[in-house]
Amino acid sequence: MTDPTAPAAPLRSAAPAVFPGGPGLFRLDPETAHLNHGSFGAVPLPVQEAQAALRAELHADPDAFFIGAADRIAGARARVARHFGADPDGIAFIGNATEGANLALDAVPFADGDEILVTDHGYGTVVAAAARRARIDTVALDPSLPDEDAVRETVLAGLTPRTKVALLDHISSPTARLIASPRLLADLAARGVTTIVDGAHVPGMVADPLAGGADFWFGNLHKWAYAPSGSAVLAVAPGHRGRVRALVPSWEDGDGFPRSVENRATADYTGWLAAPEGLDLLERLDAAKVRAHNAALAAHGAALLGEIPGLTPLPYTEGLAMRSLRLPPGTAETPEAARALRERIAAEQGIRVLVWPWPGGGGIRVCGQVYNRPEEYERLAAVLPGYVG
Ligand SMILES: Cc1ncc(COP(=O)(O)O)c(C=O)c1O
Repeated sequence: MTDPTAPAAPLRSAAPAVFPGGPGLFRLDPETAHLNHGSFGAVPLPVQEAQAALRAELHADPDAFFIGAADRIAGARARVARHFGADPDGIAFIGNATEGANLALDAVPFADGDEILVTDHGYGTVVAAAARRARIDTVALDPSLPDEDAVRETVLAGLTPRTKVALLDHISSPTARLIASPRLLADLAARGVTTIVDGAHVPGMVADPLAGGADFWFGNLHKWAYAPSGSAVLAVAPGHRGRVRALVPSWEDGDGFPRSVENRATADYTGWLAAPEGLDLLERLDAAKVRAHNAALAAHGAALLGEIPGLTPLPYTEGLAMRSLRLPPGTAETPEAARALRERIAAEQGIRVLVWPWPGGGGIRVCGQVYNRPEEYERLAAVLPGYVG
């Protein structure tokens, strides 16, 4: 990411052309505009086919499949590590970001009175994992903080002498912005704080996911890296690897990180094994081109929504495939109101888009992915005034 933050009010950009061959790579319901790739991702057809072939192989000879699984997983892990520029012994396949948070937190030797710093942009399942382990201290980050420096200063001002861990989003879910910048991570490390970074949105969306050098970092492959659902990665700095233990001990529990974390006895490993297919596809399409295209689509969507009276574009991080805007007061103050509005828009308009709750009106987030067409954002912009008036 170059120029990490940029001014709030985006100028209307020209609509990007449809990504050549992009929509045909997916089998999404054509009646629906899918503008919410960030929540669950979507699996491209070649990756679905690769996983289906692996499942057929498994069911044709289960003994052979499971006996050879560990070595094949190690091979797939090496492929993922190459994509990240990571040490293959320093990452493990895991099921999802939520699991990554729990594994990382369990590897921290907490003492009585230790605190975990989180922010109010943190993802619910991840914050819940923290709350189970120690007292959490929630730093409020005003969504309209202008830039990365303001975010960094606010987080650092929230430290207390008892802060043992800072558990931060790499890219936040509701507000779609960079929080755990390399500079903030370095400042936290210099203060002796253990850093755990939630990179759920980062693989596939950010060029160099591990550049920040966190103690623990986890990210989903099933959002932006085109992998099957249930594919994610936990990266652990060398000094912490010896303390990472599987949440459920299984075969290889004594073998240490990463194998002990990956062995789940009889489980469906086909998602991890097909994950390299997703990275191959991303690289075949040209990852930099995909990122630029998706960011341009999200910017186009945000610019259109920004013209609706009462909607306020938020400061954003350049180059990301998600953009957020604040909604007018009263629109989505609570999780229930946000969910109800999101479901009404889906049911009545056939448009899937994230509405997030926030005191003072909530927000809306649009995503860009190679299957999207500019007219889908235009359709959302045309109907949204009827929901936020
Ligand atoms: C920032 C963030 N963290 C964690 C998660 C949880 O991911 P998963 O459901 O794969 O555990 C999400 C999901 O959207 C997210 O946006």
